[in-house]
Amino acid sequence: MKHVKPRLFGVLGHPVAHSLSPMMHNAAYEALHMPYHYHAYDVHPDHIQHAIQGMRALGVDGVNVTIPHKQLVMPYLDEIDEEAQAIGAVNTIVRDEQGRLIGYNTDGAGYVKSLISETKIELKHTSALLIGAGGAAKALGIYLLKSGCPQVSITNRTQEKAEQLAAHLQQYAQKQGYSSDMTVTPWKTNIDVTAQPYQLIINTTSVGMWPHTEQLPVQLTNLHEQVVVSDIVYNPLQTSFLEEAHKQGAMTHGGLGMFIFQGLLSFEYFTGEHGPLDIMRTVVLEHLERN
Ligand code: ATR
Repeated sequence: MKHVKPRLFGVLGHPVAHSLSPMMHNAAYEALHMPYHYHAYDVHPDHIQHAIQGMRALGVDGVNVTIPHKQLVMPYLDEIDEEAQAIGAVNTIVRDEQGRLIGYNTDGAGYVKSLISETKIELKHTSALLIGAGGAAKALGIYLLKSGCPQVSITNRTQEKAEQLAAHLQQYAQKQGYSSDMTVTPWKTNIDVTAQPYQLIINTTSVGMWPHTEQLPVQLTNLHEQVVVSDIVYNPLQTSFLEEAHKQGAMTHGGLGMFIFQGLLSFEYFTGEHGPLDIMRTVVLEHLERN
């Protein structure tokens, strides 16, 4: 039998004890009989540079990076891929054969893969609204543009941040030669889809996340079966925002898929192999349903 060298991966976060990534990646290694281990590293932000140097010194082969480190790690890497640069955040670091550390971001690509696989939406014919203008909105916005979305609008409680993000995305689209139309929609607590006919509405904020599960980022009205309503929150699996959209007849897409697919794409960067999607999803889903 071919000898496979043991390898070490992990996630850097603070706090990180509740991360579901170790469970998901370790289940994948086990299913594919890979002698690999994935560990949760709780790293204080003051120590992030040492953690990256430690990765080099100890031969850690790759890490995911989560809150609050996604931007902090960037100055200490040898190379950052183009999309991660455009997003301005790294969630995956891979140590290559020369020992160089390369930063990627799999959040936006993971989101779009999950959205398409669950809803079969054709983004090339979709007018999308992003609710929120933080890091998640940026990652999703870049990948909506890359996927050919012809119209992307941003609405945010703080209008200035929506304008900044729209300008950034517009610049990215121009640089890439995409002909998408970027707009800012003034913040309203009620969005009537008859007046504003979006086909895809995405909550990119954390509003509705446990324990504040009754909260909605905005109220949606006059939804119908041609509209996809999506939420990046996955705890709870079905947010109040999605429950309300479902009652109005819209198709809904929850945040779990984004988490699974970003992990799947990271797995592929780490190992060079296709990840076992169903196993990764099942282990996380069973855990969330139990707790
Ligand atoms: P992340 O990087 O996870 O996207 P972030 O950068 O802190 O997080 O962004 C959070 C987003 O959620 C912001 O767009 C924020 O709106 P503001 O720019 O007005 O702060 C939005 N957000 C957070 N709490 C909100 C609330 N209660 N209602 C509406 N929007 C909210």
